[in-house]
Amino acid sequence: MTPEEVLAQVAKDVSVCTKCELHRSRKKAVPGEGPTHAEIMFIGEGPGFHENEQGRPFVGAAGQFLDQLLAQASVTRADVWIGNVVKCRPPGNRDPLPEELAACDVYLEAQINAINPSIIVTLGRFSMNKFLPGAKISAVHGQMRKVGDRYVIPMFHPAAALHQAALKPAILGDFAKLPELLKEARTGMGRSAPAVKIEETPKEEPKQLSLF
Ligand code: URA
Ligand code: SF4
Repeated sequence: MTPEEVLAQVAKDVSVCTKCELHRSRKKAVPGEGPTHAEIMFIGEGPGFHENEQGRPFVGAAGQFLDQLLAQASVTRADVWIGNVVKCRPPGNRDPLPEELAACDVYLEAQINAINPSIIVTLGRFSMNKFLPGAKISAVHGQMRKVGDRYVIPMFHPAAALHQAALKPAILGDFAKLPELLKEARTGMGRSAPAVKIEETPKEEPKQLSLF
């Protein structure tokens, strides 16, 4: 299957999926959306009220705040892929349960493999835990990590920042750093910086030796 076909198949599968209890209260599943070859994937938690109505990610209050954060970072929403770790709304917006996260993960895995992004921005702790198990969001937010051959940037969830005023300066600050982090990821620096230096050292050795 082509990446386009994989994404279309996932969207079709989640719309009728019954692999976990969340299907019972689902109106519309939210597969996620964005360009097939997006460089960046933003991964949130799960659909809320408006997302469940419309079948689209981040279209409610948290989505409006995310739009502002993206605009501030000069990231165009149409250029990025946006989705969630669970595709159906947890009733009353409760936290997704471990078995629901586990059941839904095959869809996200298929999406990540098809899109093959260089950068994954996790929104909230459930998405962060998939890539950085055991990490504390209060300690690692805004810090880019290399996970396998991708960069992962954990961010606070926009809804959390809307409800807890104390988190707002932190999420604003983290998104403000995004253009710089993207540049760093694009040039392949970040975590692999020491490897570049090691490569340069042997090149200089023959030159120095030839002086004597
Ligand atoms: N919160 C999320 O985590 N995802 C959405 O799609 C909307 C709100
Ligand atoms: Fe299926 Fe995921 Fe929806 Fe559960 S949340 S029913 S696993 S699509």
